[in-house]
Amino acid sequence: MPRIAVIGGSGVYDFPAEDKREEAVKTPYGEVTLTIGRIGEEEVAFLARHGKGHSIPPHKINYRANIWALYELGVERIIATSAVGSLNPNMKPGDFVILDQLMDFTVSRPRTFYDGEESPHDRKFVAHVDFTEPYCPEIRRALITAAKNLALPYHPRGTYVCTEGPRFETAAEIRAYRILGGDVVGMTQCPEAILARELEMCYASVAIVTNYAAGISHQKLTHTEVVELMQRKTKEIVSLIVHA
Ligand code: HPA
Repeated sequence: MPRIAVIGGSGVYDFPAEDKREEAVKTPYGEVTLTIGRIGEEEVAFLARHGKGHSIPPHKINYRANIWALYELGVERIIATSAVGSLNPNMKPGDFVILDQLMDFTVSRPRTFYDGEESPHDRKFVAHVDFTEPYCPEIRRALITAAKNLALPYHPRGTYVCTEGPRFETAAEIRAYRILGGDVVGMTQCPEAILARELEMCYASVAIVTNYAAGISHQKLTHTEVVELMQRKTKEIVSLIVHA
């Protein structure tokens, strides 16, 4: 049974493991297909967040099914990747950010397993989880050590602003998020990190800066530039996760 899972974001659609097999896991929120393989001694589950070939946009991802499926498999720790725009001039395209905080600006996504009586499983109660520290300090430490050992350009902490998307932000939104203390912006950490916490799984995420955010960059943002940078960084990302 895999104790560790990797959720690959944009640009990370596969992982190097031995004896890989696909598994379909039924959950109260739908079925999830993921890959399980061995890295060293450890069985690891891998889930491509946007589906194979990047077919699912951030607001349509079935986050509850994904996290429930990992829980069902017995996963205790999740390392996720996410492509982000930077609001912080010190965080440059190509840099890695080991996230330590987040702010949720999403508006339309189911964000809890605890829907009271309406929950489609036997946890039909009301729950309010502590989320003071949204990311697991132990996995963060492992990621920081790995980034240091691999001599990657990294930042040991950063605040992630999660927007609804799928459009990119306006320049005024980015100015506001910066004033509020955001460092990077993306579209997927909420509710993924929230749901992992609700099922008491350790979760951490490494963000990869693909661009300066709207208005900081004076060029138009395109999804192509995000994908191209991620393609250039895939080897480093995978190596960072395997080391961690
Ligand atoms: N904004 C939101 N999400 C993103 C960005 C961005 O600039 N870059 C990569 N994901």
